[in-house]
Parts: sequence; structure tokens; C-alpha cells
Amino acid sequence: MHSIKKITDDLIWVGANDRRLAMFEGVYSVPYGVSYNSYLLMDEKTVLFDTVDKAVGHRFLENVTFALDGRSLDYLVLQHMEPDHSAAIEDLLIRYPDVKVVCNAKTLTLLNQFFDIDIDAQIVKENDTLNTGKHCLNFVMAPMVHWPEVMVTYDSTDKILFSADAFGTFGALNGAIFADEVDFDTEYMSEARRYYTNIVGKYGAQVQSLLTKASALDIEMICPLHGFVWRKKLSDIISRYVLWSTYQPEENGVMIAYASVYGNTENAAEILAGLLRDKGIKAVMFDVSVTPASEIISAAFKWSHLVFASTTYNAGIFVTMEDLVNDLVAHNIQNRTVGIIENGSWAATSGGLIKGKFEKCKAVNVLEQCVSIKSGLKKTQLSELDAMAEAIAADIASLGDGSGSVDGGTVGGADAGAGVGADGGSVDPKAMFKFSYGLFVLTAMDDSKDNGCIINTAIQVTSSPNRISIAVNKTNFTHDMIIKTGSFNISILSTDAQFRIFEQFGFHSGRDTDKFVDCGYDDRTTNGVRYVPESTNCVISGKVKDSYDYGTHTLFIADVTEAIVLSNEPSVTYQYYFDNIKPKPQPHKDKLKGFVCKICGYVYEGDSLPDDFICPLCKHGAVDFEPIK
Ligand code: FEO
Repeated sequence: MHSIKKITDDLIWVGANDRRLAMFEGVYSVPYGVSYNSYLLMDEKTVLFDTVDKAVGHRFLENVTFALDGRSLDYLVLQHMEPDHSAAIEDLLIRYPDVKVVCNAKTLTLLNQFFDIDIDAQIVKENDTLNTGKHCLNFVMAPMVHWPEVMVTYDSTDKILFSADAFGTFGALNGAIFADEVDFDTEYMSEARRYYTNIVGKYGAQVQSLLTKASALDIEMICPLHGFVWRKKLSDIISRYVLWSTYQPEENGVMIAYASVYGNTENAAEILAGLLRDKGIKAVMFDVSVTPASEIISAAFKWSHLVFASTTYNAGIFVTMEDLVNDLVAHNIQNRTVGIIENGSWAATSGGLIKGKFEKCKAVNVLEQCVSIKSGLKKTQLSELDAMAEAIAADIASLGDGSGSVDGGTVGGADAGAGVGADGGSVDPKAMFKFSYGLFVLTAMDDSKDNGCIINTAIQVTSSPNRISIAVNKTNFTHDMIIKTGSFNISILSTDAQFRIFEQFGFHSGRDTDKFVDCGYDDRTTNGVRYVPESTNCVISGKVKDSYDYGTHTLFIADVTEAIVLSNEPSVTYQYYFDNIKPKPQPHKDKLKGFVCKICGYVYEGDSLPDDFICPLCKHGAVDFEPIK
């Protein structure tokens, strides 16, 4: 008997749920089942988006037949060839031999690999469209989200994104079809996280690329291949994708994973968890021999700090812990602080081996305060565990409140993100350019090292008391100095500023250069911090009162401790900079090879752009660059 769901007047869910599957992809437990979604568009032409897994093929075919209500099936759009979505193709083609398969070239290759059937497919590529009567389908390539052939489809008539694996969730639908019909945050978000992190967690850059493309679309509904359809509060799931794909933690706190044969390593992990709680730090614990790795990987993407406690086994890391650590590294875990506890009765090696694996990860900081146990923890070692807890607590304190955010609050601050605001309204990223930003040299000093960078977000918050706010990208060295010292200066640039000032402070990092070398001045305010006396109309000194972690940026609120007017030249606005200061691109005799930042126009010359390249001017990543045409 059919079991379908109406999504819109023209769109019907014809998928099916599987609650018997023990291991999804043979690896991931699915205790709450899984749905395989397929959608039927009933327009002048009928269009089916993907099929389902073989386990539910019979129900799916019943659903399609019923939903078509005697009409023929005109198109089958194949977005993803993984068999959980393609297994029913052959049976479908037997029932509907005249259906036209619509797919990209890579999909056709995989189709021919999986099946021995002769298919005359309609091949589509990026931005190709298919008109089906009232509806216009736009095809958008999304390679490696999760396989190389993946594409998504945007129905520009009803503003629906058919998103393939993206925005999917583990868990059967249990009679609902829309995310707003269930308590998604409480009941399903952990399964959405577990699905994302394990299935596509490795491909953060590719997911960001898809998010960027999606942000240019006016999306009112998302129809993924697993889990619920999103028609309200799309930002709830999109904002998580922004965090997950950039490997930013969702919460400050500690995930402790331990491998313990006789309970002594577990004992040390328990004591650490208690010490952390005593310091007000949240901690969650997993026995890696009991909890499925997919749950621990999901937790590792959620929490800011990770501790691995492992006994030594066969002169190496305990088997289940080694598997977990390898899995995390394979899933590209980044931007985390890691603590290590090792145990070994005669030759402890697990700690060093775990450390070696994480040292290869991007932006993973392994704490110096590691603990090495011989058989069982001794009283004398409690101070070592406490030192680790202290180090973690201090690190978390330096991060502020720690909840991640979609929006960093600098120029073009909608980032690659959303397209959808917190209330479900659409967000045009270009709107952020309408703010009248200024441009400032932000300077700080730490251990007699002077440094500075260009920022565009400095405003007065209150006049009594006199307070200002600045938002600073965490990748800036100046950011770290302010976190440490709490002091900074803002030099407000004026319209007589030359481009060389932007080159001096904005186009390289103070970590490996002295930005003040040969500048010809050494002016400092009372706080001892340097400022820029030329082409600035004012310098303001700030003492940090509060700081707030907003994912990519920290927002500092500071008391004004000194303010000196240097000239009456008007302040530079961001627009003025582009119109009058930034050099215009010069015609090249030979065609310039390189990439241009779509946000600010910065040009990177070269044949290929590194994946981790950050625009030195506006701090947007490689996904916001496009080849020079
Ligand atoms: Fe749900 Fe990548 O397949």
C-alpha cells in the first residue's frame, strides 16, 4: 500500500523509511532508522528526483505509481548515484521505459558502472535549466557533497532546493515530513550532526562552496535525500552547516574519549571530568569501546576541546582508540585544542602516538599538560590532571562565550552563508555592503612586539561611559595580542591615506613580519601601544571590558582610555577607499593569470589558488575567489 506525503500543490514525497537497517553504509548505526527521500513533481511534465535504497524499493514503486495517478513519468533527475538513492533505477526504468534520465556526465559514468543498461540520458551541466511547464529547474553542481557527481536542483518557480545529501538527517520520518512538525532541535539535531559529520564532514571546503552557491538563490524550501523537508527557519540548519563545514565548534566544553581495559584509564578520565566541572566547564565522556565511533566523531565536531585517554596496547594505541583517532583525522577535524592522557604499565607509547596523529591536523593545538600513568593514577599525579583542567579552563576563558555564529560582522558579513535570516526571511549578502563602514588601523603590543592590521568595524557603543566596539578576525595576529593584553589603539584613517598604508598593515601577517619596520615614526599613546600618526585624523585607545566569540571573529567591547584628534581631514569610508585609494586594475600586455576576490577585488596571481587561501584584505576564503577571465 502506498504511503506518500504532499509537500506543495505540485510536489509529492514518494520515498520510504527503513527501521531495520543495522548499519548505514555498513559503518554507521541508525538506531532511529533512516529515510530515503524521493520527490515527484507533477507539472505539465512529471519529474522524479532520485530513487531509493533497494531495501525500500517495493514501497517506493508503489508510491510513484499511486502519485502519478495514471500519468506517465517524463523525467528522472539523478542528483546522486550512491546506491541508497539509485538502487531502484533499474526497476523504475522497467516500469517507465520512456522516462528521460537527466543527469551530468559524471553521473552517467557511474550509472554505467553500477548498471548494465543502455541509457540515452539528457546531460546537464552547471546552470543548465529544464522547463517542465510551470516549473523551471536549474542544475547546480555540488561535487564531493558527498560524491564527485553530486548535483543539486533549484526549482526557481517554487524556490525549492533539492539538495541531495546536503541538509540530510539520520532517523525515520515517523509520519512527519517537515522539520517544523517535530521538535527538531531536541529530537533530531544530534542525528543531523551525526549524519553531516560522518558522511560529508571531510568535505568542508566543498560544502562551503555549495553554501556560497546557495546563498545566491532565493530558497524557501529545502528537500534533502534523507530526513525532513525544511520550509521554516531554514537558518536553523544552514547556520549549523556553516559551523560544521568550517570546523568551528558549536559549544565551549570538553569531549573526553577514553579507552580503558581494566578501568584505570577511565578513572583518570573521570577525575579530569570532575575537575573540569568544578571549574564550571561542561564535559561529556565516551568509552570508545562501547560508544559507536560515529557518535564520538559527531561530538568532536560539536565541542571546542577534546581529551583522549588511552591505554597502551601491543606497544601502540588501544585498538578502538586508534580507530577513532584515525577516523577523526580522516574527517579533517580542525580548530580544536587536544589534551592527552596515556597509560602503560611498562612502556607507555599511546600518548606520543596520538599526539603525532593530531599534529598533522590543521589548527589543532595539543596541550603541553599531558598526563602519563603507569598502571593506575597516583595521588601525586592529581596535580597533573588539575594542570590539564586549568589549561583547558584558561583556554576556554580566552574564547569568550563560545557559541559559534554564522556571521562574523565584517564587510560582506553574510559570509558564504545563509541566504536566509534567523526568522526565515531571505538575506541578500550584498545588503551587508550597504553599511557605511570606515577603515582603521588596529594596533596592539605584546612583550614589546608591535603589530597592527586593517579593520572596518569600529564604532562608539555608548558615550557615558565612553565605550567602543571592534570586531576582529581571529586569524589576525593583532587579535591574539588583544586577547592577551586587553589593550589596543584605533587609528582612524582619513581621505589623504595612501594605498601603501593598506599594504603596510593589511597584506601580510605580523606573525612573520615587522609591520612598522622603516616606517619613520614611533608614536605611542599612554597605554604604550603604537599608532599611525600619518593620514589619520584621530587615535583612540581602548581597554577591553568584554569580549564575545562570534565564530570567525571576536567582538571586543572596550572603555575609551585616551582619544586624540590629529587632523580635520574627513574619515575614509569603505566606499571611498574603493573609489579613490585602491589602485584600479591595469590592463596587462599578457593576460593576467590568477583569481580575483569577489568580495573586495583583491587579485591573487598564479595558476592555482591554495584551498586555505584567505584574502589579505577582506579575510574571505578561497571559495569567494573566481578565476580572472
Ligand atoms: Fe545518501 Fe551519499 O548518499
